[in-house]
Amino acid sequence: MNRIKLSNGEDLPLEMHKVKIVQKLELKPVEKRLEAIKEAGNNTFLLRNRDVFLDMLTDSGTNAMSDLQQAAMLTADDCYAGGESFFRLEAELKKVFNKKFFLPAHQGRACEHLLSRVMVKKGNIVPMNYHFTTTKAHIRLQGGDILEIPADEAFNTSSDALFKGNIDISKLKKAFKQHKGKIPFVRLEAGTNLIGGQPVSLQNIKEIHALCKQNNVPFVFDASLLQDNLFFMKTQEDSCKDKSILEICNEVADNVDIIYFSARKFGCARGGGICLNDEKLFSEIRQLVPLFEGFLTYGGMSDKEIEAIAVGIRESMDIDMISQGPQFIKFMTEELKKAGVPVVTPPGGLGCHLDAKAFLSHIDPENFQAGSLASAFYIISGVRGMERGTIAEERNKDGSECIAKIELLRLALPRRVFTMSQIKFTIDRIIWLHKNRDLIDGLEWEEEPEILRFFLGRLKPVNDWQERLVEKFKQDFDL
Ligand code: F0G
Repeated sequence: MNRIKLSNGEDLPLEMHKVKIVQKLELKPVEKRLEAIKEAGNNTFLLRNRDVFLDMLTDSGTNAMSDLQQAAMLTADDCYAGGESFFRLEAELKKVFNKKFFLPAHQGRACEHLLSRVMVKKGNIVPMNYHFTTTKAHIRLQGGDILEIPADEAFNTSSDALFKGNIDISKLKKAFKQHKGKIPFVRLEAGTNLIGGQPVSLQNIKEIHALCKQNNVPFVFDASLLQDNLFFMKTQEDSCKDKSILEICNEVADNVDIIYFSARKFGCARGGGICLNDEKLFSEIRQLVPLFEGFLTYGGMSDKEIEAIAVGIRESMDIDMISQGPQFIKFMTEELKKAGVPVVTPPGGLGCHLDAKAFLSHIDPENFQAGSLASAFYIISGVRGMERGTIAEERNKDGSECIAKIELLRLALPRRVFTMSQIKFTIDRIIWLHKNRDLIDGLEWEEEPEILRFFLGRLKPVNDWQERLVEKFKQDFDL
């Protein structure tokens, strides 16, 4: 474990890796950043990366790779069909998940597409702890809908509940009664992304498994953020304390029927796949892989990435490797909390999450608190975060805005990428912004796409607040 004590008693997360390859960064002047965010329609997805100092948009496909992953990429058996790289990944997945079949896909949402297309029918309801944007979109595209039944604590942003990602078992029981015959599967997401990377417990998985079995409904597990979740099981769940990460992972897998993952997160490379035992379902999905993804032994991934995923998954069974993310996030969250900044607690995986509802309580939710915070924070720091709130929702059926249950600015910490001084810089700028939060105002739509609007939508400030924020920043930092 890479948490040590300094002689002054301070707890410090210590990196158990060293940097061997670097990319030069540039911190552009604040005026340039204001220009860049305006050009991007106040949408951090639309910024050019050259205008970004620290890219905390996501951990998806941006984790640092190890030397062994890079080395494995050179051994890729590049070919269209039957490549050894595929069989090496398949063997690695067998060790961690122990399912009979593996179907490759180019990334996580492709798995969601394949599963929804085969399993979801019009009028179906999919109970889950919480949705991920692409999951919900694919289920709805098939005419189904989702039912979110997390524990009540899930939406309490300042909590000390350890497994806020858990499904509320009594609500799941009720759902089985209420929607009998309409539930194609139950979905549980590890490291629940949109509520702040919050973990699920092994105990909860076992309880869901038993209920699914009783009701003869498959249990689907989204393992994209499993790496962080395994860390939390090992360190916070009594029954896991004496088990190895691999043993915990095996036990998780034994208690779910279908596992899919984004290897942009799990495996620290780029790709995805589905692991399952059900031969009938496997045959049905298998036919679609060459149609939508690519031939069965690459599924839209390059053989080099397939090799990197295989090694990345093996490395994810190492506590030193998987503790880096959660420990850096904990450090950042605790420092911000000490300074009075509203952050999601307990700290989860994936990134540090600012509670934009509390941070910008003076802004009307219809003017997008998290979106406004993302824009303001980029302007004053060059750090790119991601809005995870109302902009990431879809409008209600009557056309009104669907105000998100929680409004978060997610500052993702891709694994092993940032140094402690970069984290300290980020913390400092957040604290400055919090002190000057009254200068921030809202955003409104300029261009609103119909599907997954957060990716490509453009917004504009409701007045000249951004210019005023820049002025204050320049004054305070003598620029
Ligand atoms: N499931 C979860 C829990 C995810 O976090 C993601 C992606 C997906 C599925 C889809 O996987 O991107 O490989 O198609 N999350 C990224 C993020 C995009 O930024 O949080 P994908």
